[in-house]
Amino acid sequence: MEKKTRIAVFVSGGGTNLQALMDAADAGILHSGEIVLVIASNPNAYALERAKKKGVATAVCWKKELGSQKAFEAAISEKLAEYDIDLIVLAGFMNILSADFTAKWPERIINVHPALIPSFCGKGMYGLAPHIAALEKGVKVTGATVHFVNEIPDGGRIIDQRAVYVQEGDTPEVLQRRVMEEAEWIILPRAVEKVSAELVG
Ligand code: GAR
Repeated sequence: MEKKTRIAVFVSGGGTNLQALMDAADAGILHSGEIVLVIASNPNAYALERAKKKGVATAVCWKKELGSQKAFEAAISEKLAEYDIDLIVLAGFMNILSADFTAKWPERIINVHPALIPSFCGKGMYGLAPHIAALEKGVKVTGATVHFVNEIPDGGRIIDQRAVYVQEGDTPEVLQRRVMEEAEWIILPRAVEKVSAELVG
């Protein structure tokens, strides 16, 4: 059988990007890698339901319960070893990973960011915040970026980007949805396929 990159997807909330990845797998767009594990940073993430519906194994690593960043990352690392993971995808993961952790996974962690890096990124710029900032600045074009994760928040090598127009009357929520539909859900699965294919060689 053809060897596939073993992927863990990290989530924190609704999980629409996880859904896009699982749909891409069903559609054959993602075929060099297989999503074998979903790790949620809290027990209430709806993304967990999406994974369960598809029969993908899930785990919860909750920093609040584990007590420290060190214990949180140790719990994550244990799960990654258990499932023999090759590649990590952060799909709406709202926790920052330490330099110690990212150093163990050089160009093996992919993140999707809801803006065109280097705009509206870095510490505190997650979820709705980049869209609020984009509207406050009055930019006419925003978008999404898929990049590798290193020790600098949103600072790793860019894999792909896609632009999305801001429209008159946009609210942060409306803009967030358009950026997801027109950019994130398209470029994330493609980037994960590209990196997975490179890893299986
Ligand atoms: C997405 O817009 C994603 O780009 C963003 O949060 C949303 C999660 O939605 N991620 C970040 O801001 C991380 N820096 P989802 O749970 O429906 O995929």
